[in-house]
Amino acid sequence: MNKPTNAIPFVIAIDGPAAAGKGTLSRQVAETYGFHHLDTGLTYRATAKALLDAGLPLDDEATAEKMAREVELAGLDRDILSQHEIGEAASKIAVMPGVRRALVDAQRRFAKKAPGTVLDGRDIGTVVCPRAPVKLYVTASAEVRARRRYDEIVARGQAADFEAIFEDVKRRDERDMGRADSPLKPAEDAHLLDTSEMSIEAAFQAAKSLIDLALNRNT
Ligand code: C5P
Repeated sequence: MNKPTNAIPFVIAIDGPAAAGKGTLSRQVAETYGFHHLDTGLTYRATAKALLDAGLPLDDEATAEKMAREVELAGLDRDILSQHEIGEAASKIAVMPGVRRALVDAQRRFAKKAPGTVLDGRDIGTVVCPRAPVKLYVTASAEVRARRRYDEIVARGQAADFEAIFEDVKRRDERDMGRADSPLKPAEDAHLLDTSEMSIEAAFQAAKSLIDLALNRNT
């Protein structure tokens, strides 16, 4: 692997399954180091939402790729895109190589921003930025992830069905890990962070130690 130099913006790749805690961790890391952050899941979600809003089918790859090429990274709104149906639709179109090509191009352009970037998703360390100097794979058991989702919904004062959420998490994992193009898996050189029995603060401290080491190597 080429050693990154100061001239190359520093990239932190954070991958993992849905609801493992990588979003919170990524935002905290980006804020700490003053890096730009991109939640790449939002790019798949924005593509899916554009198709749904236009009443277009989710199984036509050429149309979905065209929509993916029009996604503006600057306009991604987490509140609007976090809806459950949009996540389901996103994971369906994410199996299409044409959609992935379009979004990976945009994500790689984002990764060039100085002084550095944090990208989180499913294939950052394996496909989007395989030469990232820090790769983290954040995971937790499906049951723990479903429990966190459930608690989040209940905390908002809404009704939630644990079994349905658990089934949903497992179905999303199967789709993300089982697809032929860029399946979810840890890069060979990724550091695993299993947050099943780890607080977000402990996960952040572990991530920070790894990032500080890599930054020191880089100066
Ligand atoms: O992370 P989030 O739940 O927002 O992602 C929505 C869907 O987008 C995921 O289930 C996955 O199928 C897809 N995705 C992907 N590659 C990424 C990020 C998200 O395939 N890098």
